[in-house]
Amino acid sequence: MLHGSRLVNRLRYALSRYAVALRSVVSRSLYLVRTGAPRGVFFAYYAGMLDGGALRKEYRTQLENFDAAKRDLQVSNDWFSAHAPRWLAMMDAHGLRRTDVKALEIGSWEGLSSFFILSELPRAHLTCVDTWEGGDEHKDGTASSVAALSQVEFAFDANLSPFASRLTKFKGTSYAFFNDHDLHDHFDFIYVDGSHRSDDVIIDAVKSFEALKVGGVMIVDDYFWDYYPRATDNPAAAINLFLRLKKGAYEIIQVQDQLAVHKTAGSAGPLRASTGTEGTPGFESGIQPFHRLFLRWVSSCPAFRRGTGAGGAGHRLAGGMHRQNIFALSLLC
Ligand SMILES: C[S@@+](CC[C@H](N)C(=O)[O-])C[C@H]1O[C@@H](n2cnc3c(N)ncnc32)[C@H](O)[C@@H]1O
Repeated sequence: MLHGSRLVNRLRYALSRYAVALRSVVSRSLYLVRTGAPRGVFFAYYAGMLDGGALRKEYRTQLENFDAAKRDLQVSNDWFSAHAPRWLAMMDAHGLRRTDVKALEIGSWEGLSSFFILSELPRAHLTCVDTWEGGDEHKDGTASSVAALSQVEFAFDANLSPFASRLTKFKGTSYAFFNDHDLHDHFDFIYVDGSHRSDDVIIDAVKSFEALKVGGVMIVDDYFWDYYPRATDNPAAAINLFLRLKKGAYEIIQVQDQLAVHKTAGSAGPLRASTGTEGTPGFESGIQPFHRLFLRWVSSCPAFRRGTGAGGAGHRLAGGMHRQNIFALSLLC
């Protein structure tokens, strides 16, 4: 009898866990659809869904060591540890442990992810960029991080002190950092976890990718974070746009809470203005087939062709706006 009730409880527990997991997969799938994620994101998301447990087993010793080290750190909010198993797998798969790695982190807070990078990659030099003033979500009065805000930079300095010789600290916005440093093909590993507003995320993603070496790995945090009321203000809007802009130059290696890419090609050199006679291949590539069809339709419209020149679509449209163009462009956006 006791055995029977224990079995029922176990079954109930297993079923409730499956139900939670299933609900998460369904709501995330819907989120991908709603935010217009490129097809490759869906594949990578489903392909990596079941890895977590096996990776936690595979890297048990490293994870236990990290947990032990964490006890001596000043940590008010642990937003990082759940990602550690996948990071360890990525570091191994991309040979980051073997080489002198140049790493960049946009958004360090108290330095938990920075600590992990420097402990796991003993030959790495890490540049940390942060305002240490928090993002919108840390100041809105609801997060547990509000209380910690006045102390985060002190905590960062204390937590990272054992690694002083392998650390460069830049205090300021990521925008200021990229403005002050002309970095092309410089870093092997980049973690983007600064401001989560899409306006900032798109700049961080594009500038970080430019600063990433071919063969390097870039991870962007909080892909599924649905914080701002307007969907287009959340990270996914910017990350999807980034993926379309840079299509052909990366391979997606992970999509769970974070999206990670492996850079496979550099920039093709200085960009050339369109002459208007060869169509718009650069603009079209990376746009979904349905949208491409509309773009072709727009290009064939006489009002669109009238003002052709080197100024791109916006310039041409100024020559004669047409209802067909407006409709098609609204579908593209
Ligand atoms: C989620 S926290 C980073 C957490 C850290 N990576 C970890 O895993 O422990 C985001 C950080 O980004 C910083 N931040 C927000 N806006 C920024 C900006 N525009 N430029 C640089 N850092 C920014 C905040 O001060 C905050 O410390």
